[in-house]
Amino acid sequence: MQASGETVRIGDDGGVAAALLGWYDANARRLPWRALPGEPAPDPYRVWLSEVMLQQTTVAAVRAYYAKFLDLWPTVDALAAAEDADVMAAWAGLGYYARARNLLACAREVARRGGFPRTEAALRELPGLGAYTAAAVAAIAFGERAVVVDANVERVVSRLFAIGDPLPAGRTAIRAATDMITPAARAGDFAQGLMDLGSSICTVKAPRCLLCPLAATCAARAAGTAEAYPVKAAKKAKPTRTGTAFWIERDGAVLLVQREGKGMLGGMRALPDDGWSARADGHGTPPVAGEWHAAGLVRHGFTHFDLELQLMLCRSADCASLPPGEFWPVEAVEAAGLPTVFAKAARLALAHR
Ligand code: ADE
Repeated sequence: MQASGETVRIGDDGGVAAALLGWYDANARRLPWRALPGEPAPDPYRVWLSEVMLQQTTVAAVRAYYAKFLDLWPTVDALAAAEDADVMAAWAGLGYYARARNLLACAREVARRGGFPRTEAALRELPGLGAYTAAAVAAIAFGERAVVVDANVERVVSRLFAIGDPLPAGRTAIRAATDMITPAARAGDFAQGLMDLGSSICTVKAPRCLLCPLAATCAARAAGTAEAYPVKAAKKAKPTRTGTAFWIERDGAVLLVQREGKGMLGGMRALPDDGWSARADGHGTPPVAGEWHAAGLVRHGFTHFDLELQLMLCRSADCASLPPGEFWPVEAVEAAGLPTVFAKAARLALAHR
């Protein structure tokens, strides 16, 4: 099949949609946020919540968070009424914390309007709701024909048409090809079918082309080069940043601060630190005078850099000059909702007590 063929139009997809939907009808994964083929569309709140969580995160990691959020906040109105700190703490460990801030901003606007708008264009206008989520919710919850492209879809479609333009620039061609094969009806099932195919058959390494419902029309399969797609531009080496976190303990409680609004891990509870960021190393200076001990090093990989975080402990801090925060019982620190890097630091501190 040719992505560039002048004669190929929407719906004129060489049978891709029919083959994929037939496969999906028989093989759709059962996922808690999903309606099975033929069932009524699921609640838009559930679709939206799951799609926000699933960006940059695996299905396996999302399951427990999805269940916890629905338990705590079963409706968009309940989520809209939640305290920011509770939502940030419930999100802790899922990463990419801007998603949690955006989730809340969006929930509040949806609650104000009395419900989710039903089109991709109107969804896109909600605060914090990006192009991917608007397309996914429009297609999956409202049955609109929208073009949904995530990393699995990118892989499947780049192989199907042997699109060799390196990502990220290659996304334009991949999107156009996905648009071409997206059917007018069942666009949500079609999108989820591509995702399931990408995660179970058209995998990154060793794709199982013999089982693939699209093998007959796949250009990369014909050329025997499926593993080469999608082509990615050479990655810049990730820098390593260094920083220091401070465990200040008093009467069985540890000082936790709330991180600044929109920066790294913004709005999350954390240990005080020396101001490391994605662009700068910290300078190691403890925030208060006292007797400090080095507890060791925590390593954590963020998307654009690796962090080596030194941990310093103090039980004799000069309480008059502590940074603003709250003392949290040490034995309950796991319930504080610390993002992973600080949860690792807390475990290290506990091992040193
Ligand atoms: N990844 C993102 N959205 C998904 C969905 N609806 N089903 C499976 N995997 C996904």
